[in-house]
Amino acid sequence: MSLSLYPTKRHLVLIGMMGSGKSSVGRALSVRSKAPFVDTDAMIEGHCRRRITELFQEMGEARFRVMEQDIICQAAEEEQPCILSTGGGAVIAPANREVLWRTGYVVYLHAPPEVLYDRLKRDTSRPLLQQPDPLGTLRQLWESRRAYYEAADLVFDVSQIRIRPAAEAIWKGLPDWLRRRLRGEEDA
Ligand code: S3P
Repeated sequence: MSLSLYPTKRHLVLIGMMGSGKSSVGRALSVRSKAPFVDTDAMIEGHCRRRITELFQEMGEARFRVMEQDIICQAAEEEQPCILSTGGGAVIAPANREVLWRTGYVVYLHAPPEVLYDRLKRDTSRPLLQQPDPLGTLRQLWESRRAYYEAADLVFDVSQIRIRPAAEAIWKGLPDWLRRRLRGEEDA
C-alpha cells in the first residue's frame, strides 16, 4: 500500500469486538504518535450525557446505531489525522465502513470470543452482554461481523499481548507514510 494509492487515508482506525482493547491500545498509540485520540463511544456518551447502557435502555439499539453512525461520520471526516477507536458494532453499517476505510488505515484487534468473555464476564457496561448467555452472544456477534473485521488493512492478534507492547508493535507495522501523517509531518 502506498500513499499515492491511498491519498484520503489519514486516521488510524481501530475496529474489533468489545473487550479487544481498542480504547486502551488507542490511547497508547496516541501517546506514541502524538496524534489525538478519539473514542466514538465516549463521544456519544459525552454528547448525550448518558452511559451507553442507559442509551440502549432509553432509546433501544436501533436508535443508538443511528447516533453511532452520525458520530463516526463526523469524527472520520475531520481533516486532522487521529487515532480513532470505534465501538464493536461500528462495522455493521455500510456507511460507517465506507467512511472508515476511505479516511483511515483500519486495524482489527482480534481475540477469540472465549478470551473476550474471560475479560468481560464481570463487566456491566456492555448492554448486549447483560443476558443469560454472554459467551454465546459474543460468538454469534463475532461470526456475523468477522468478514468486516477481517477486511481491515492490518489484522493484529491481541489474545495474549499487553497494551503497551501491542501499541508498539502496531505502530512499527504501520506504513511509513501513515506514521508521518499521524505525526503531522508536512510532506506526508
Ligand atoms: C457494542 C460495543 C460497544 C458499544 C455498545 C455496542 C457492540 O463498544 O458500542 O455496547 O455492538 O459490539 P466497545 O466495543 O468499545 O465495547
